[in-house]
Amino acid sequence: MNLVIETTADGSPTLYREDIDEHYHSVKGAQAESLHVYLESGWRRAAEASSCVRVFEVGFGTGLNAAITACAARESKIPTEYYAVELYPLAKETTDLIATAVDKEYREALEKVNNAAWEEKTEINAYFSLLKLEANLLTMDLPVNLDAVYFDAFAPEKQPEMWDVAMFRKIFDAMRPGGVLTTYCAKGCIRRMLQEIGFLTERLPGPPGGKREILRAVKTV
Ligand SMILES: C[S@@+](CC[C@H](N)C(=O)[O-])C[C@H]1O[C@@H](n2cnc3c(N)ncnc32)[C@H](O)[C@@H]1O
Repeated sequence: MNLVIETTADGSPTLYREDIDEHYHSVKGAQAESLHVYLESGWRRAAEASSCVRVFEVGFGTGLNAAITACAARESKIPTEYYAVELYPLAKETTDLIATAVDKEYREALEKVNNAAWEEKTEINAYFSLLKLEANLLTMDLPVNLDAVYFDAFAPEKQPEMWDVAMFRKIFDAMRPGGVLTTYCAKGCIRRMLQEIGFLTERLPGPPGGKREILRAVKTV
């Protein structure tokens, strides 16, 4: 798999996967996307309802979402247990290079989340623990009692099997009532799929300079 590091419009780095012509983040701003779609629209909302936020990320990738959430958990003093699945862990040379290119405030956390061992719960800071699972989302047993799900798979056109109704139902069942799932993809067909399962969905404005809309789905029962 050939990966190229690219700089996105807000100056933060992402990866481009040549074989499927896909980026790991929005080219309009990787950091802006992570902050807006997952941290502010997902984690922050879940933190209003839960004294300890249990997060599950689909696609750990570069670790940017995890690092940004670790910094927010420490700043806000909100205990957070973070689970992330990844089928294709990146090489250390790649994650080291990415860490040199992110904003200084996230660099240390990004190094820590990437250096954490797989399958071992690791304390990244006093408020944030991380368990990285090297597994296939489609076949793994999910962590349970989830307050927030960061659904950050590659695009539905590239990986339709990830955006599947049975997959979302499995995630729904693993969430707590009141739990929130956020994703950068606001396509009507994905929204309807989530509604069919029982999520209450809302389209939210996208990140500054980025997509027009994103999706948040709440498990209301
Ligand atoms: C859009 S990228 C995620 C970017 C990541 N959240 C970040 O902050 O860098 C999608 C990720 O899903 C991973 N992936 C693809 N298929 C998967 C599968 N079946 N199970 C688990 N992860 C998968 C990819 O390797 C990739 O890292």
